[in-house]
Amino acid sequence: MDALSAQKKIEELSKTIEQHNYNYYVLDTPTISDFEFDKLLEELMQLEKDFPEFLSPESPSQRVGGQVTKEFKSVKHKYPMLSLSNSYSREEMNDFDGRVKKGLEMTADSLFPEEIDYVCELKFDGLSISVIYKDGKFSQAITRGDGVQGDEVSTNAKTIRSLPLTLNGKNIPKEFEVRGEIFLPHKVFQKINKEREEIGEPLLANPRNAASGTMKMQDSAVVASRTLDCVIYNVLGEDLPFKSHHESLEAIKSWGFKTSEHSKVCKGINEVNEFIEYWDKKRFDLPFDIDGIVIKVNNYAQQDQLGLTSKSPRWAIAFKFKAEQVSTVLESISYQVGRTGAITPVANLKPVLLAGTTVKRASLHNADIIEKLDVRIGDHVFVEKGGEIIPKIVGVDLSKRPADSQKTIYETHCPECKTELQRNEDEANHYCRNESGCPPQIVGKIEHFVGRRAMNIDSLGGETIEQLFKAGLIKNYADLYDLKKEQLLPLERMAEKSATNLIAGIEASKNVPFERVLYAIGIRHVGENTAKKIAKKVKTMDALLKATPEELENIDEVGTIIAKSLIEYFSNEEFISLVNRLREKGLQFELAAEQTEGHTEKLKGLSIVVSGKFTKWGRDEIKDLIEKHGGKNSGSISKKTSFVLAGADMGPEKLKKAESLGVKIMGEEEFEGMIQ
Ligand code: IVH
Repeated sequence: MDALSAQKKIEELSKTIEQHNYNYYVLDTPTISDFEFDKLLEELMQLEKDFPEFLSPESPSQRVGGQVTKEFKSVKHKYPMLSLSNSYSREEMNDFDGRVKKGLEMTADSLFPEEIDYVCELKFDGLSISVIYKDGKFSQAITRGDGVQGDEVSTNAKTIRSLPLTLNGKNIPKEFEVRGEIFLPHKVFQKINKEREEIGEPLLANPRNAASGTMKMQDSAVVASRTLDCVIYNVLGEDLPFKSHHESLEAIKSWGFKTSEHSKVCKGINEVNEFIEYWDKKRFDLPFDIDGIVIKVNNYAQQDQLGLTSKSPRWAIAFKFKAEQVSTVLESISYQVGRTGAITPVANLKPVLLAGTTVKRASLHNADIIEKLDVRIGDHVFVEKGGEIIPKIVGVDLSKRPADSQKTIYETHCPECKTELQRNEDEANHYCRNESGCPPQIVGKIEHFVGRRAMNIDSLGGETIEQLFKAGLIKNYADLYDLKKEQLLPLERMAEKSATNLIAGIEASKNVPFERVLYAIGIRHVGENTAKKIAKKVKTMDALLKATPEELENIDEVGTIIAKSLIEYFSNEEFISLVNRLREKGLQFELAAEQTEGHTEKLKGLSIVVSGKFTKWGRDEIKDLIEKHGGKNSGSISKKTSFVLAGADMGPEKLKKAESLGVKIMGEEEFEGMIQ
């Protein structure tokens, strides 16, 4: 065959095969036999072998896999992958509807309140994926990761036959991203486990773990053999030609994506609740796992108006179904000590099968819960597994209580260092306050410090930290920077290469940006996001050390509790000396220049409420501007509000409130003048 005909034939075969893939995996209506399909694929692969110059990255032959990825590249998401806030009851759903209406500034008390159009969807229980398409072709697939950056798993994703490699249809944007869920249908999961059983391999725990484990496999041929499925539920891009979520789903379906056939537009929260009730019963008939329903505001303009919080959109919520429950015997209770010294009582159970996994341990939360449930050793307890990884005890079967059972007496001393436990009046947990002398606290703090989202020293795992601590080489995170390779080499399992890597990893962490250093040092209540906000505002560690409680409370997301915790931390000699050592070692103690570009203090000390729509900026943009110029965004109007920044269609309620409190209302132009 000459080259030209080969090229033509390859194109033709590719098209035909992809159509059959689509018929089988998306439409679920195959039109040829497996045998015929395999023949076509074989023919294509042979031609591609003979004429490798015509092998395109979107060829259906790529779905067979074979390429091995040694290490998945970490890629930053163009749009962060947010999560959803959860709800568990009808009341919470009604509250959500109330918040949406309020956010859209609809009056709830009018005689005929306007109902919101929601789209209800199944909440697939798998792993989320972001896939970028360019010029109508598959370009890149990225896992969620920490939401900001994930792993590039394109080679593995290409093996998923319900995920199109080439798109067909009208008005396909030049570049866009889809978000969806990769999952394993029950049938495939059972088939894999049956095969594993036969060859004596350990069984996979549940379809979700199996799906996410599969996507991380290096050998894409194995991934291909697992036949994962993928449903798309969101589209993102610049200037998308859609007015609503539902419209976007219809369009992507017409381009070749698999969307859920069970999505429904519901008018008002009552219809939403009906949808939830229907699926709460019917979910067990589905051929795959779902763990709830996702509810999204349909109208894109309304979505924009509602905006996002740092973690999740305000225009969507997940309704989580009640977890499965079983009963088993509580054999003993042990007490674990966390990084912060918090004590967690753990129930050791007679092993029992729950939602596909064998459960041996469950969380008992704290002394109050033990008291409230009156849980005793020897009791038959009810165990539940919800969205969380650790199952929990939710009740006691009193009818089965042994006659000689003894009331549980909560531990009085730290099981690790024997220090007497303390409990503050306003706290639920007991604490061991021996922060710098209690081994699990020391190790836990260092583990947190090196964590992926903190200093990201991935050459240093939990076991090594424990080993270094036991060998007396480290007692705190600052000690890491004094480690020498010669000290590491005599340690067990520490080869030349791992010692070199470890030292290099520690050295590289000196470039980790200031906000992550702030998170890494482990100040109570200062999570990743709060650390970011604080860093952005104070800009340097020195400024933070000197900040007053009032100044701290003026930072977004910092209230009295966090401010108190910061003040406490920075008045403790021990922590100050640790922080000073980190400074001497050259860690980043201020924001990088590009992070402070354009920052001013023009709005310093001002608390501003944003309301309505603006011509120049989106709401989130305007909020960013306020922060950039040193102001604080506030959600509700009070006497403390400096002014309300009002755009078009400001809600009448807000207007009334501002007027009654005498709070100034400022327009977009005046505001622009202020920050110029
Ligand atoms: S929308 C910003 N729709 O649930 C909103 N998520 O907690 C993005 N999920 O990480 C999510 N089915 O992995 C959406 N129909 C659906 C979903 C769904 C499952 C997962 C997804 C996400 C998590 C949210």
